[in-house]
Amino acid sequence: MKKINLKDLKITAQNEIKKVSNLNDLDVVFKKYLGKKGKISQVFRSLKKSSSTEKAKIGKELNEFKSVFKKEINQRTTYFNKILKDKKKKERIDITRPGKKPSLGSLHPLTLVRRKTEEIFQNLGFSVVGGSEIENEWYNFDALNIPSDHPARDLWDTFWIDTKEQKLLLRTHTSPVQIHYMENNNPPLRIIVPGRCFRYEATDASHDIQFYQVEGLMVDKEVSVANFKAIIQEFFRQFFGKPVEIRLRPSYFPFTEPSFEVDMTCLNCGGKGCSACSQTGWMEMMGAGMVHPNVYKACGLNPKMWQGFAFGMGLDRLAMMKYKINDIRLFYGSDLRFLKQF
Ligand code: FA5
Repeated sequence: MKKINLKDLKITAQNEIKKVSNLNDLDVVFKKYLGKKGKISQVFRSLKKSSSTEKAKIGKELNEFKSVFKKEINQRTTYFNKILKDKKKKERIDITRPGKKPSLGSLHPLTLVRRKTEEIFQNLGFSVVGGSEIENEWYNFDALNIPSDHPARDLWDTFWIDTKEQKLLLRTHTSPVQIHYMENNNPPLRIIVPGRCFRYEATDASHDIQFYQVEGLMVDKEVSVANFKAIIQEFFRQFFGKPVEIRLRPSYFPFTEPSFEVDMTCLNCGGKGCSACSQTGWMEMMGAGMVHPNVYKACGLNPKMWQGFAFGMGLDRLAMMKYKINDIRLFYGSDLRFLKQF
């Protein structure tokens, strides 16, 4: 057997013990030297054939080496165990400590207002209908009695999408859904249509380039302005939890005749005048009127058989009044300090 230099073996073993950084690796070193097939055991075995003087000499040296090796291994084991113990102490879970509160999101104020609006109108017998935010000129304008040369098109200018087949646009109001719905459903009907609208216009405290409307449409044999007023007053009463003062102003929309605008006392300032209501004390909430005969015709319905009202109410304005918010742009700013209040 190759003669093993015990001095070298000792130095290598000690270096290996020093280098080790955890208990598992220390065990590997232990086995490498003192395991059944370990280096020290091998030298012991090789002594069988040696002379008795040699056996005594090397045997003594080996035993010394073995005990020093074992001592060093034990010291390192104690050291690693202490580290582990300290670490465990530090990592102890204190089950009495109060937990971390997960931060929960909340519904956007416009979602809250839309849901409440839907609930009230559903209780009044209206169905909730959806529509597309992208429309063509026919639905957004022509079918609503606004031909291409009509000046009202300038009032409702929007963002246009250039496509090869036809000119598409981001709808300026929810009124196109009136047409879609009456094309596919015969009166009597009662619907509301909440949805997003877009306008190419300057922004201020009560106007944004995107906002939400709720379209309303009720068509039957004998529906009048009185029905409209009663329903809107009841809606406001339920929505604000108290009767609110409203006023109907004569107005003009190509798709209604007669037409009017509905204002309510500005709840932000209590009617005194503020930036939200342009210092008037009134907030314009919706445009409305009796459906124009040309709109029925565009949908294939006989205007002599049906009559009804339609309205387009600003959902953002409802939210402004409900939560006393003086600038519509806060809804779209994604500022968590604002949103977390709801
Ligand atoms: C219309 O959009 C009509 N389609 C309403 C209508 C429907 C009339 C059915 C008759 C029959 P108007 O442009 O006035 O009308 O808008 C209606 C409401 O939407 C306004 O009263 C206001 O509350 C809201 N609104 C309009 N423009 C903006 C804007 N830029 N930002 C926020 N809200 C707006």
